[in-house]
Formats: sequence, C-alpha cells, structure tokens
Amino acid sequence: MSCRIAICPGSFDPVTFGHLDIISRAAKMFDRLIIVVAANSAKHCSFTPEERVEMIKKCTADLSNVEIVHYDGLLADYAADRGATAIVKGLRAMSDFEYEFQMALTNKKLNPNVETLFLTTASQNMYLSSSMVKQIASMGGDISSFVPEVIRQDIIDRIYIKK
Ligand code: PNS
Repeated sequence: MSCRIAICPGSFDPVTFGHLDIISRAAKMFDRLIIVVAANSAKHCSFTPEERVEMIKKCTADLSNVEIVHYDGLLADYAADRGATAIVKGLRAMSDFEYEFQMALTNKKLNPNVETLFLTTASQNMYLSSSMVKQIASMGGDISSFVPEVIRQDIIDRIYIKK
C-alpha cells in the first residue's frame, strides 16, 4: 500500500499555536507529514533555520508521523524528491488568500503532481502571526497564549529588548 506523504512549509519564525494546530490536524490526514522550514526571500528571520527546526521539534515531540527539515530550494522540487502528493497550508483571514493562491498555482505549475490543501485556521488563531508574537515579545508582553511553554523562553531570550 502506498504511503500518503504531505509537506507543510513555512518560515516558522517562530512556530506558533496557529502553525501547531494546522500541523496536528494535517498529521491526522496523512501517513507522514514533513514540516519544511523554507526560505522566504521577502522575510528577514530572527532565528536561524536550525533554531526554527529545533523549536518545532520541541513542540511536536508527541506527533509520531511528523518529520522536520530545513530546505533552501524550491518547494515543488522538494515535494517531488520526497514523493509528497500534497502541500498543506493554513488560511487565516482573507488577507492570506491572494498570496497563498499565487503560491499554490505556481507550485502546481512547477510540480503538477502536488496539490495544495488549505485548512481553515481555528478561530482563536485567526489574527495570530509570528511577527505579532515577536512584536509583543520585544516589548516584554505576555506571549503565553500564542506559543507553547517549551519555546517561550527561547523567544524571549532572542527578541526581548531591554530598556
Ligand atoms: O510562512 P511563510 O513565510 O508564509 O511561508 C512561505 C514559504 C516559505 C512557504 C514560501 O516562501 C516557499 O515556499 N519558499 C520556498 C521557495 C519556493 O518554493 N518558492 C516558490 C513558492 S511559489
């Protein structure tokens, strides 16, 4: 029997409860879920790819069919290399839609064998983003509703700007 493999890509700078909700739901839908810490040329990241991989590992230790990798090339090529048939992404507000639609169509053009699936975000994560978490942490705010306890201090240590 063939194994259904999906990839869940993103910057994850850092991973949040919003990402983790999508990851745990996607992990139930596929035999194997590969979380890909990928390069987004439009973003300047606060954590190295290795740090982001480590943070995701800490937060997904209970998910046995999840693998976390860092990949710097085209996602469509990585999906082909790994035999993945789906790219899973979370959709928050309408503001995500155009950008995600553009990426989905581009990936389909580059690799016609891979489908992009969108999972609607849980309502409590509708306005949650990594950049919001970093902004709150930089000002000493409470990020406990946005990221798991196991990575909270890692984020504060990197982001908090002492006055
Ligand atoms: O979390 P993000 O920053 O919205 O994720 C965007 C990401 C990293 C998934 C996207 O930039 C990406 O797929 N990068 C890998 C390079 C690639 O394949 N680019 C073409 C995408 S259409």
